[in-house]
Amino acid sequence: MAEADWKHEPAPAWQMPHIGEHPIEGYRYTSREFYEREFEHMWTKVWLLLGRENEIPNPGDWQREEVGPESIIMVRQKDGGIKAFYNVCQHRGNRLVFAEKGTVKRFVCQYHSWAFTLDGELNFAQDSEDFPQGNPCGKVRLVEIPCDTFAGFIWVNMDPQAAPLKEYLGPIWDDWNMYPISSMKRYLAQTVHVPCNWKVIQDNFNESYHLRSVHPQASVTIEEGYKETQFDMCEEGHGRMIMHAGYPAKSLEGNKMREPLMALMQEWELDPEAFQGRERDIRPALQKQKRKLGPQRGYEYFNDLRDEQLTDFYHYNIFPNFSVSVTADGFHFLRSRPHPTDPEQCIFDNWYYATAPEGVTSPVGTPAGLVGRDEEVPHEIINHGDKSIGLGMDQDLSITTGQQLGFRSRGFRGVYLSGQEARIRRYHEVIDEYLQGIRPHGQLHTRPAPVKPIS
Ligand code: FES
Ligand SMILES: [Fe+2]
Repeated sequence: MAEADWKHEPAPAWQMPHIGEHPIEGYRYTSREFYEREFEHMWTKVWLLLGRENEIPNPGDWQREEVGPESIIMVRQKDGGIKAFYNVCQHRGNRLVFAEKGTVKRFVCQYHSWAFTLDGELNFAQDSEDFPQGNPCGKVRLVEIPCDTFAGFIWVNMDPQAAPLKEYLGPIWDDWNMYPISSMKRYLAQTVHVPCNWKVIQDNFNESYHLRSVHPQASVTIEEGYKETQFDMCEEGHGRMIMHAGYPAKSLEGNKMREPLMALMQEWELDPEAFQGRERDIRPALQKQKRKLGPQRGYEYFNDLRDEQLTDFYHYNIFPNFSVSVTADGFHFLRSRPHPTDPEQCIFDNWYYATAPEGVTSPVGTPAGLVGRDEEVPHEIINHGDKSIGLGMDQDLSITTGQQLGFRSRGFRGVYLSGQEARIRRYHEVIDEYLQGIRPHGQLHTRPAPVKPIS
């Protein structure tokens, strides 16, 4: 296909895996035993998007992130690479660092001052001659974790035999390479403690069935109908939903145009009045305008995108815990992580990254409001309900917490899914493939039996 042609075509569908009739029952979200099995067999065997390269630009810069009960340090090396270690001193187990990020020459444990170099080697121990097993310096090391970078993010995998990240990501790799994600800047960073299991949040981001009922305002620009949405899944366990955007809401005031669609049209020099009565023409007109004006406004990379990428929401679910809505100039980062001990709580990150072309000075429209291009964005840590994290996210979280309550009930008989929610079933099937040892190193294409709790 000629270059110009592929840009006008929709994205080719991914190769769909088989989806079985896997039941999804409440214990998966409430049982401690299931939570522990997930940690042992799934969380410690998958690639996780954990850090950001530009948070640690210089040698000695480090960033700490938590995954359930584990704490992981990512540190920039002298040669420019990045290594990841468990955040645990090898003397008697103290945590090495407690802050979110910092810069060190060596990691010095606060308990007895053992000091580890940036590449994890112990190079100072008090009274090093007093160890019957021999001087531990040069011998003892921090425990290293496989680590790689892609799209400006730092990915780790607690499995020492991890397959390469590129292989794990499957079709995500090429899709994301179309956007300048690595140079995007963060304009929102809210971490929220939410009283629901981490999967409740990922299930929600795996379907668009709830858009009309939970987010009527969002469908001001998104075509929420499932028949117009492209649903993809891949054997690696990830998903993609392509939601057309640039339409007036059907569910609000008939087919009338409203903000923010009108504002978007004006930004791209289209007159909303001229489209009265022919609203279906707005999306292609917006694509045309962005194609024409984008490069001269600093968005040169628009030249490398499909027409639909200029207007639509490319929503990805990366197994197991990362979802993102990618638009022509933004990256809505949605990540849920397990609580260190409680299956009925999780940690949810509502972050937003945007491209920052030179010369563009207008504020960035994040899911929680407008932010100036040069603003330093603080990392907020919030308990659910303490403050708004933006209308759309407030709406999603209000549902997820109610759903967690229902999962506890003996009156819940398991989900009853529509066709457009099939990706949820698939997600749970993949979790069970890990729990049963079929992944990551077993024989794929064998469908697992549902995992039942022991008690
Ligand atoms: S526990 Fe770290 S130096 Fe003793
Ligand atoms: Fe939602």
